[in-house]
Amino acid sequence: MRILILHGPNLNLLGTREPEVYGSMKLDNINTKLTELGKELGVEVTCLQSNHEGALIDALHDARTWADGVAFNPGGYTHTSVALRDAISAIQIPVVEVHLSNVYAREEFRHTSLISAVCKGKVTGFGWRSYALGLRALVELLREV
Ligand code: DQA
Repeated sequence: MRILILHGPNLNLLGTREPEVYGSMKLDNINTKLTELGKELGVEVTCLQSNHEGALIDALHDARTWADGVAFNPGGYTHTSVALRDAISAIQIPVVEVHLSNVYAREEFRHTSLISAVCKGKVTGFGWRSYALGLRALVELLREV
């Protein structure tokens, strides 16, 4: 089983970016933890990050050809991107929405997600562990099928 972990804009700055909101762990460290968790779960984990909406869409399209599921943190595009929503609808593999922060405890504009309705589920507010929980849920779900 192969899983794509997809990180959106500004997440390359994790570690220095608002650590009080997003924690102090760097993206590379999060990716290492997820790769290790993947090994534990017996799945292959591939991690990608882009600041560009089109590149994220391309990564989702490409995932259709090789991945069984995606854990996706679209960053700020969560709240704005019809195109990302359409990409998730278009690929027929499960996508789990992931956020480090609890978006519902923050500004009102973060309470709206254009992608939630086309995702299998959503994990928000557990820092880097949101990704780990999303990955575990995805693998369990896929193994049930
Ligand atoms: C985020 C929440 C978004 O509102 C924000 O724009 C981000 C990160 C999170 O992981 O908590 O860039 O997706």
